[in-house]
Amino acid sequence: MNEHQPDARPVGVFDSGLGGLTAIRSLLRILPEENLVYFGDTARVPYGNRAPETILQYARQDVRFLRSFHLKAIVIACGTISTTSLDTLQAENPDLPFVGVVSPACRRAAELTRRKRVGIIATRASVRSGAYEAALHRIDPEITVIGKPCPLFVPLVENGRFRRGDIVIETVAREYLTPLLQENIDTLILGCTHYPLLEEVIADICGPSVALVSAGEESAYELKRLLKARNLRGDPSAAGEVQFYVSDRTEDFENTASIFLRENLRHTARRVDIEQY
Ligand code: DGL
Repeated sequence: MNEHQPDARPVGVFDSGLGGLTAIRSLLRILPEENLVYFGDTARVPYGNRAPETILQYARQDVRFLRSFHLKAIVIACGTISTTSLDTLQAENPDLPFVGVVSPACRRAAELTRRKRVGIIATRASVRSGAYEAALHRIDPEITVIGKPCPLFVPLVENGRFRRGDIVIETVAREYLTPLLQENIDTLILGCTHYPLLEEVIADICGPSVALVSAGEESAYELKRLLKARNLRGDPSAAGEVQFYVSDRTEDFENTASIFLRENLRHTARRVDIEQY
């Protein structure tokens, strides 16, 4: 391909469900010219409490479906898939660059931490994987990493309990975050698709001395760097399109998707039988 010719092929973005739409929100802002194909595995969500082998098996099917499009890159918006399966998926698909949420978030956290004490909140599978810790230690072995699984956050957010002043989410968040604050962290990685919606609640509890790093947003910047470095950018004067696919019923898609995108969605989703892939 000519060096300066825009590459209109879409970027595939996938997640265990609709939480990954928080990454779509960042991508629409940071790379508005790119065409995107989103797949949310709404029939099998959540992945976050499952065994690594199950997550990898699901993720392989998700990637196989996305590969039915002529893609130029894939973003793994899901923290759980990024922490458990990224290296294997990349090795199995060497012709397609993958961007996950772990490395970009860790790079940002390593820049921000002053006391070298970083907290990470995520699903059980993500924390158990030790992926954030390993990535931070590759950057700076002196950083102390304190991980905390927050399994109640996903169902609470999905039930609309994420706003400032909601006593249920504030109580749960305080319980999860207090041990991290007692460990004197100065930086906290929000390592799960759903947590950007909790940013206000988390910031209120942590106070201004703790810097928050949104893993999804950092991965959008990482994709931008990657596309530029490999000469894969779309046409800067075009407006990208997004196609949405889910594996379960599509009826509630617009409502639920609007929560994560934080705007009213006009698009509908198409259903795919993911077990076929
Ligand atoms: N998307 C998942 C993540 O970011 C959260 C939901 C799930 O457990 O599947 O880890």
